[in-house]
Amino acid sequence: MKVLLVGSGGREHAIAKAFYNSGYEPKLFCVSELVNPGINRIVKETGGEYYVGNPNNPETVFQTAARAGVDFVFIGPEEPNFRGVPDKLEEEGIPCIGANREVAEIEMSKASMRDLQWKYMIPGRLWYKKFKTFEEAVPYVEEYAESVALKPARQVGGKGVKVIEDFQVYLKEEKKRVKKKHVESIYRDYMKGYDDVDFKILIEERVWGPEYTLQCFTDGRTVIPMPAVQDNKHAFDGDLGPETGGMGSIACGMNLKWSVNDDRAILTEEEIEKSTEIVRMMVEAIQKETGRKYHGVVAGQMMLTSIWGPTIIEMYSRLGDPEALNVLAVLKTDLVEICEAIISEKLNTIRVEFEEKATVVKAVSPEGYPLNRDLAKGHPAIVDEEEGVFWASAHLREDGVVETGGSRLIECLGVAESIPEASLIAERLTSKARLADGWGLFHRSDIGSEKSLERRIMLANMAREIYKYRERKGILGKRIIWIPGKGLEEVG
Ligand SMILES: Nc1ncnc2c1ncn2[C@@H]1O[C@H](COP(=O)(O)OP(=O)(O)O)[C@@H](O)[C@H]1O
Ligand SMILES: [Mg+2]
Repeated sequence: MKVLLVGSGGREHAIAKAFYNSGYEPKLFCVSELVNPGINRIVKETGGEYYVGNPNNPETVFQTAARAGVDFVFIGPEEPNFRGVPDKLEEEGIPCIGANREVAEIEMSKASMRDLQWKYMIPGRLWYKKFKTFEEAVPYVEEYAESVALKPARQVGGKGVKVIEDFQVYLKEEKKRVKKKHVESIYRDYMKGYDDVDFKILIEERVWGPEYTLQCFTDGRTVIPMPAVQDNKHAFDGDLGPETGGMGSIACGMNLKWSVNDDRAILTEEEIEKSTEIVRMMVEAIQKETGRKYHGVVAGQMMLTSIWGPTIIEMYSRLGDPEALNVLAVLKTDLVEICEAIISEKLNTIRVEFEEKATVVKAVSPEGYPLNRDLAKGHPAIVDEEEGVFWASAHLREDGVVETGGSRLIECLGVAESIPEASLIAERLTSKARLADGWGLFHRSDIGSEKSLERRIMLANMAREIYKYRERKGILGKRIIWIPGKGLEEVG
């Protein structure tokens, strides 16, 4: 059996490892712009080949797959989905684990995702407005003195979202100015070069609560959830600093428990069921809308909000990075078997099982990431490749030197009985990397610590108390607002 993997980050190294552990012993091939040293080793050991090429180009990926004669292709990142790589492969008769262009719209266009949610009345609908130009958005920003999330309406690689809390009336003018300025930079900078969506700016009501990612396998008929994972987006300890692609993530059991034998958890089992149902409804809705089948991974990046309980913030059409490491580390079922079941649309006939373990991932990044990636790039890296160390944004040169790619260099995985224990293991592994030219590396020490877990459980309890009260009163998802001349009105 032969498999082609598309992409070369930490997520893809974890996927490569899952294929390496498969009883089917597939020969692994890979296509990407950078040569990930970890994936490269697996490719060589299994008798496959590593091709350097643009993973977003449908023709390149198809030619590579055809040349290698693979049985199927597994797409790691989102951008190949947005560019129609799975469509091209399927047209040519090569099965693919990856959302095709039309169904990947649920991730690519955050505006379309919200449209779909309202059209199909899927729980967790937030108020929103979408705009094609900066000028259109200005009057709205000037009139609407509320807390909002301002977003590029397209997925642009995890950048550009700003949440602005607007409570203090005396700061009204200042907040207006900040909102306007950010909306302008979304339009002029973040959305620059993305001409594949009509709407450029999305303004959403701001909600609060703990966040989590629910990744699922789907063949378009069945949706199978993986353990919920909590990602940490901010660069520095205590959720400070700029947003990154993810500095680390935690998981334990299906519902983010403290430990295997513990009742304390961030989510309840019922919340996982509801979240899965929401993802399932999204898959059904996008299939109905497009007439296309969804084959691959679908994920809800969710928040447990006080208004709705489980609420979608955005959708993924692939595994998360680093969230992929958490779930693949505990996946008991053979990944090849899952892929084959997706391709033949028989996911309902297999059991997808996960070990009850806690997992913590910590990413190590060169200084400069995420705001000055050029500074973070091109440093020679030395890494002790122990069990649990995954290569991420790194490039193995012809001369054998490994250079940093500008994003996260390695992702360190700890597996244990409890999240704090797994965190200590991952923490120890972060010291396995250094840069030969003395340039600095950083990571977050607080991910999975007892303190941060306690805080998240507390936040979940606060949100839960309110949404449960709403549920009992029959006002889940309803807002009660003051309408001049009418008084208090319930709107949904
Ligand atoms: N409506 C919202 N209310 C409150 N916070 C939000 C909202 N939308 C997004 N956020 C915050 O901003 C982060 C980034 O938003 P997201 O839509 O996931 O964009 P991306 O991951 O592409 O940057 C989220 O993880 C969440 O913390
Ligand atoms: Mg996100």
